[in-house]
Amino acid sequence: MDLTRRPATLDDADAIHRLIAAAEQLWHGQTDRVPDAIAADLRRPLIDLDLDTRVIEAPDGELAGWAWVHGGRRAQIDVHPSYVGRGLGTELLDWAEGRAREHGSDWLAQTVDDADKAGTGLLRARGYEVLATNWLLERPVTGDAPVLPEGVTLRPFAPGDARVVHQVVQDAFDEWQPRRHEYDEWAGTSIERSSFDPELSPVAVAGDEIVGAVISLELPDSPDGYVDQVAVRRDFRGQGLARALLTYAALGAGQQGKQTLTLWTHSGTGALAMYQRLGMSVRRSTTVCRTALRAVDTPP
Ligand SMILES: CC(C)(COP(=O)(O)OP(=O)(O)OC[C@H]1O[C@@H](n2cnc3c(N)ncnc32)[C@H](O)[C@@H]1OP(=O)(O)O)[C@@H](O)C(=O)NCCC(=O)NCCS
Repeated sequence: MDLTRRPATLDDADAIHRLIAAAEQLWHGQTDRVPDAIAADLRRPLIDLDLDTRVIEAPDGELAGWAWVHGGRRAQIDVHPSYVGRGLGTELLDWAEGRAREHGSDWLAQTVDDADKAGTGLLRARGYEVLATNWLLERPVTGDAPVLPEGVTLRPFAPGDARVVHQVVQDAFDEWQPRRHEYDEWAGTSIERSSFDPELSPVAVAGDEIVGAVISLELPDSPDGYVDQVAVRRDFRGQGLARALLTYAALGAGQQGKQTLTLWTHSGTGALAMYQRLGMSVRRSTTVCRTALRAVDTPP
């Protein structure tokens, strides 16, 4: 089979999305990916496309597989369902581990869909250990209007909110994220994306301060509304603001014709219990696996 190996370019973003969507379609009957996610990822400041990405291109121009390594520590590898079983996953994993070593990293993590038996088997066989779980949660888009504590109002995101919302989100996420995302990286992967939906992205305002926010993205041709980020300032927690913000987003998604509201959370945030209290349930999950990397010339 005449397959070509090369680094990715920004022009590959749509083809990479089609490859991932084909796998998710097979496993779940639909894709939960926002189409502009790959383009946003490829533009991340830590990514050097020539060094940190790899695509395997079929003669028809479609992609049989792809991989990237972010910051030498986090890899993603996907093989098109039509090409599973031909060793491409192993080849891309070898490449990703090699690239992580070039970064000087002594470990590498990656996320595998729990429905991906081939990918899960490959990582287990290579000694990867389970590090964390991601859950895709869903809730109905019907119900009562948001209930707010006195003095707090909700309104849709406005362009002038960008810097403050960045601060609220990053301050909240700093409680568990390994690395703070500075404004340009955060904006490039959220509010500057064409899929950003300000109408379904409420901010909670107390006095003249923004104290909580939800960032929603549009999943075209999907029955799902999609929330990408939820954050409430520490001194305003425990008053029902997350509940109100999510209710606002859910009811708005319903008005746009969506059937459910979805979001991803991971075990490191400790937020699963909260989402379950808010009536959300798990639709599916992925597993974050990690391995220690030995230098190539070190015997096992
Ligand atoms: C998670 C977060 C958004 C919750 O905001 P909040 O405004 O305090 O949440 P609410 O007051 O609306 O709480 C909603 C419900 O969840 C419960 N809850 C809140 N945090 C919880 C937790 N960590 N574990 C279990 N239940 C929790 C509340 O008791 C409440 O239930 P109740 O109404 O039946 O009493 C906030 O803590 C935060 O910003 N954390 C850091 C960022 C983060 O982790 N975001 C989500 C990751 S995807």
